[in-house]
Amino acid sequence: LQIEALAALADIQDESALENFRVGYLGKKGSLTALSAGMREVPADQKGAVGQKLNEVRTALTAGIEEKVAAMAAAKDAASVAGIDVTLPGLPTPNGALHPLTRIRDRAIQTLRRMGFALADGPEIETEWHCFDALNTPADHPARNEKDTFYLPDGRLMRTHTSSVQIRTMESIKALPVRIIAPGAAYRRDEIDATHLSVFNQLEGLYVGRDVSLADLKGTLEYFFQEIFGPQTQVRFRPHFFPFTEPSFEIDVKLEVKGQAPKWIEIAGCGMVDPAVFEAVSKSRGDNLFDPDLVTGFAFGMGLDRLAMILHGITDIRHLIENDVRFLGQF
Ligand code: PHE
Repeated sequence: LQIEALAALADIQDESALENFRVGYLGKKGSLTALSAGMREVPADQKGAVGQKLNEVRTALTAGIEEKVAAMAAAKDAASVAGIDVTLPGLPTPNGALHPLTRIRDRAIQTLRRMGFALADGPEIETEWHCFDALNTPADHPARNEKDTFYLPDGRLMRTHTSSVQIRTMESIKALPVRIIAPGAAYRRDEIDATHLSVFNQLEGLYVGRDVSLADLKGTLEYFFQEIFGPQTQVRFRPHFFPFTEPSFEIDVKLEVKGQAPKWIEIAGCGMVDPAVFEAVSKSRGDNLFDPDLVTGFAFGMGLDRLAMILHGITDIRHLIENDVRFLGQF
């Protein structure tokens, strides 16, 4: 029986034939099972030898079936890759990456949060009060011109800077100090060219408390720009004018532009909050939390697009919004 069975097994080619074979010999009504049932008629003195022989046959057939199953699986694998060269390298899958603007914004936020600044925001469609009046900007200031600012029919406007978030935060905050940053879009009716778009990205900062000094302003921003551009970077504060700060400064950093001698590059505006701004805020609040005789503060604002361009040597701001993969793939 064993010889006959193993010969039959060798000829089996597919899974259903193999299953028939297994049932035929080892199943409930299989021939080996029938032989085992015959054990009852075997004389007692031969039972041991016959039983042992039957077990041997069962073991041999079971092992034969297992071998066959493995051989059939291997044959199937081989067939599935027939004609495919499995040693060829795979096709490259393109990787995604963060946009350079997102990266510099995240870095700036992280650095300032470590210094204790919390995130704040405000609407992009603003009132003249929050964008200009409360920021001590007179009605005839050139920035308020219809040529420079997008006005809506209802008299509101697209904010021209994120400084409006300074006012909104001071109007609503419950207690001092105020220590916030506000990244966001700003809008200006500029002619579009390599360095101007009609919408760009700023990051505003404001710190107001009892004893905030010019030294705090300088220390904070010097540290910030050395975190962004490297610890050896020189930072200078050049006197300037903004309606909402006094004194006011523009910040320059000395940087090496590829292949050129290091030069001073303007990077941000800042200053000590003008008392007229605290007066305007006090008027809206109707309390004296921002009493101009008791509080001081500093504010700063910078262009994130410009920062990204300087960091990566990008020469045309339009690259930042065109989503050309040849540009994006470089980051
Ligand atoms: N709002 C100014 C600008 O858009 C920048 C600035 C912010 C200056 C805060 C001083 C203080 O140019």
